[in-house]
Amino acid sequence: MGNNVEGFSLGDAVFGYLGSTFGANAQYLCINSKKWVAHKPDNISFEQAAAIPYGALTAMSLMQKLPLQAGQHLLVNGASGSIGSAVVQLAKYQGAEVTAACSERHKEYLNRLGADHWLDYRQAKENWPNKAYDAIFDVLGKCSFEQANTSLKPGGTLFCASFKGRHLWRSLAGNKGQAWRVKCALASYSQANLTEVARLITEGVLTPEVSKSFPLEAIAEAHRCKEGGLGSGAVVVLPGQ
Ligand SMILES: NC(=O)c1ccc[n+]([C@@H]2O[C@H](COP(=O)([O-])OP(=O)(O)OC[C@H]3O[C@@H](n4cnc5c(N)ncnc54)[C@H](OP(=O)(O)O)[C@@H]3O)[C@@H](O)[C@H]2O)c1
Repeated sequence: MGNNVEGFSLGDAVFGYLGSTFGANAQYLCINSKKWVAHKPDNISFEQAAAIPYGALTAMSLMQKLPLQAGQHLLVNGASGSIGSAVVQLAKYQGAEVTAACSERHKEYLNRLGADHWLDYRQAKENWPNKAYDAIFDVLGKCSFEQANTSLKPGGTLFCASFKGRHLWRSLAGNKGQAWRVKCALASYSQANLTEVARLITEGVLTPEVSKSFPLEAIAEAHRCKEGGLGSGAVVVLPGQ
């Protein structure tokens, strides 16, 4: 630990996130103590602590940009992934009604996270609920404008965490005569939000879910497991085991 580090002591258990830097997997990191590192909550293991910051921090930052009011109905399209599962938990904490859209194999997981309703994103858009949602949080940018038009209430928001040119254009150009709008946003990562994530884990609001863990030697298998999308929750790599 450097001489000028404040707020941490040697041997403290910490967790954190370096943003989308796409670095290698490593056992040791040198990290700025004023950025993206916080005390690990006592009620979770290091393995669980590795699972949560990417999804929870991205979800928290994006939801601050949505934003959502208590009592509003949110559809999370892509609810079973790292970001979506955190959005579901944060939205419930904020007092929203939440519909989780994901595959049927993840329905029970979303129930466990507190989602009020479940929707299979594969079903035809005609079967999506009519004028039901104040906002759709679209994790992968898969919700078509037709689906949004069917399902959003007047004044509602199609909030895109992943987007193409047409989303961005609609986001910048306004609602173009539609009763709903498109909003595209990029997450920003901060130590303040990481500290808030730690608090919410301690209070049991956010639950880290580990699908499977792999030693560093099995890194290719770990990637295959995540890309296969079979389990619910994160795939964790355990260097040094
Ligand atoms: N805006 C930002 O700042 C920001 C930051 C980070 C990442 N991102 C974006 O977030 C995305 C990754 O999110 P993630 O890490 O949460 O992914 P993830 O863990 O891989 O989860 C993907 C989710 O999408 C669902 N899904 C798959 N196909 C779908 C479809 N056709 N329609 C609706 N949902 C579908 C999956 O459901 P099932 O598994 O149940 O089928 C799962 O819930 C990337 O596109 C990335 O670019 C954006």
